[in-house]
Amino acid sequence: SADYYREPKRPQFHFTSELHWINDPNGLVFYDGEYHLFYQHHPFRNYWGHMSWGHAVSRDLVHWKHLPVAIYDDNDVMAFSGCAVVDWQNSSGFGTGDRPPMVAIYTGHSPGRQVQNLAFSNDRGRTWTKFAGNPVLDVNNADFRDPKVFWHEPTSRWVMVVSLAVEKRLQFYGSEDLKTWEHLSDFGPTGAADKPNWECPDLFELPVENRPGESKWVLEVDMGGGSIAGGSGGEYFVGQFDGTTFTPEEPADTVKWVDYGRDFYAPVSWSDIPKQDGRRIWIGWMNNWQTAMLPTHPWRGAMSVPRTLTLRHGDDGYRLIQRPVRELKTLRGEETRITELGLKGRVSCGFSGTRLEIVAEFEVGEADEFGLRVRTGESEATVIGYNRNDGQLFVDRTDSGETDFNDQFRGIHGGPLEPQDGRVRMHILIDESSVEVFGGDGEIVITERIFPSPESDGVELYSLGGTTRLATLSAWPLGSIWHK
Ligand code: FRU
Repeated sequence: SADYYREPKRPQFHFTSELHWINDPNGLVFYDGEYHLFYQHHPFRNYWGHMSWGHAVSRDLVHWKHLPVAIYDDNDVMAFSGCAVVDWQNSSGFGTGDRPPMVAIYTGHSPGRQVQNLAFSNDRGRTWTKFAGNPVLDVNNADFRDPKVFWHEPTSRWVMVVSLAVEKRLQFYGSEDLKTWEHLSDFGPTGAADKPNWECPDLFELPVENRPGESKWVLEVDMGGGSIAGGSGGEYFVGQFDGTTFTPEEPADTVKWVDYGRDFYAPVSWSDIPKQDGRRIWIGWMNNWQTAMLPTHPWRGAMSVPRTLTLRHGDDGYRLIQRPVRELKTLRGEETRITELGLKGRVSCGFSGTRLEIVAEFEVGEADEFGLRVRTGESEATVIGYNRNDGQLFVDRTDSGETDFNDQFRGIHGGPLEPQDGRVRMHILIDESSVEVFGGDGEIVITERIFPSPESDGVELYSLGGTTRLATLSAWPLGSIWHK
């Protein structure tokens, strides 16, 4: 309703629930012109508990309409993370009319036991019925969760990837009808990252942009702690999937990070996006379990913007490429352009805003460091920079505003980026309480929550230890998806 979404710090073009706690995105599925977004949700409180599936739909991946809670917890069984598919052939027999049923496959959590359950809908996801024969998969394990299911065309069956979370072992299962599952193979554990668990896997095939005709499979999985920026984060493996077994292309101990910021967790991709569209799109929870109790109310938690995924091949093998979905451009206001500007010290950009999209290209020269300072105010700024000496793109949120609600919140987080033809490109999305930085052509992303004062809307360019040439910069104010 109109009073919500005007609170300070409320993201204006990122998904949030009207009220209460959210974590992982769940059940992403496209059905009859609508993108469904379900999510882990406490229906009554602003903290984790009573896990249920909240629900929203969108026709453009930008504007979201809230719907009632789809799947509630019951009898001490919580509805943990999972996925949804369109059962085109009605293989499950849940369909009653002309339309194929939507089927959700989710983890039923009770103390000491996690099992896989089904629920289905015959009215475009508006109402859901839990399958009377639940659970459909039970291996008598306390940490067995987060199923992701897809139709594997070549073997004509459903395939599930699901995690034995504490063992850090992913399992693959096959099924004809979504109700009976046969164990196919395992992957992991892999040893290179110091992680307490593995959860929320996803598996899909992607085209390799710079090798026409080639495609590879990506297996993504998340760790609750021990990731690159500290706390929770995701890693991925690139390889082959033959319908039974995932075989990585590179040694399995090679760690590839999904995001080098602190706040991109448990991403999952949409199923059933029409073939004519052909995109693989995912969304992540813009948070970190270490610092999840963010200073917002009466809601807590947000999703990233939806991102389109592809692969590119380079010197270091296959790299996941992420870009904001093109539909976000519809939120752009009037463009400001700056070209060919020599930078030394700090230079004001001449525009400001708390919600901005900025695309900047810098020529790497003599300077040690260059970039932008955004959401600047009296005594705060969020720095988005490139350090030439160590080849790192980074976000520094040490003095970004409110940081003292958690000891682990302050800090500088980043990762490697190779200049292209001597240039570093940054594609930045700034919202009321977040920044997402896509480096280069999307080969590195840094996602961070920030809590500046609503008045801190300055934008500056900077160059330290020498001059830097800014080749081009385009900036747009971004509209709100909730208000005119
Ligand atoms: C990941 C996670 C999942 C689980 C859900 C519970 O953030 O721990 O593994 O299904 O959250 O809310």
